[in-house]
Amino acid sequence: MDDDAMDGLTVRDCQRCPALVDSRSRIVNGVGPDDADLVFLGEAPGANEDERGEPFVGRSGSVLDDALRDVGLARSDVRITNCVRCRPPENRDPSKAELSNCRGYLERELALVEPDLVVTLGKVPSEHLLDRSVAVTKEAGDVVDVRLGERSQRVLVCVHPAATLYDRSQKDTFFDTIAQAADLSGLADSSDGQSSLGDF
Ligand code: URA
Repeated sequence: MDDDAMDGLTVRDCQRCPALVDSRSRIVNGVGPDDADLVFLGEAPGANEDERGEPFVGRSGSVLDDALRDVGLARSDVRITNCVRCRPPENRDPSKAELSNCRGYLERELALVEPDLVVTLGKVPSEHLLDRSVAVTKEAGDVVDVRLGERSQRVLVCVHPAATLYDRSQKDTFFDTIAQAADLSGLADSSDGQSSLGDF
């Protein structure tokens, strides 16, 4: 991967995927602390993310925010990023080639951040990191060590937050897995989910 295309954790320009260059309004980079213990990995930006330039800011993002709040975490306590940084046309899944074109950016981001744990939100990011087919509903909560470039990375499989919007049992699975993520990364109850100004 041409690291030159990245400025720290940020991809400023990329023309590798012609269909995505056409469909995106902007590149959606990861957000959150550059030394986050906990990273959430989604698939690709949707319409809201493409418009606002931030991952998980639509309905799925609200579910993620709610689950984080439930375990005393704020969105700003964690890093949130995607396998692919540009919105695919008509919200289709990213192709294998697109995932592979963006892989170096993700590996570099994770190498710089060095999180304790990466939570894969849904099938596409789970299969991308585990490099095999994954039944996310069955495997949610499983912890796996994967090789990412030079590094070994601990990964927690999770269902996609969008799944909770139409299936109650997936909602329980999702919220339980986020609580497990907070525990595993040592973040459980380390924040009250509010700014410290709230104490005054
Ligand atoms: N779904 C994703 O996988 N990523 C986002 O950024 C938003 C929704």
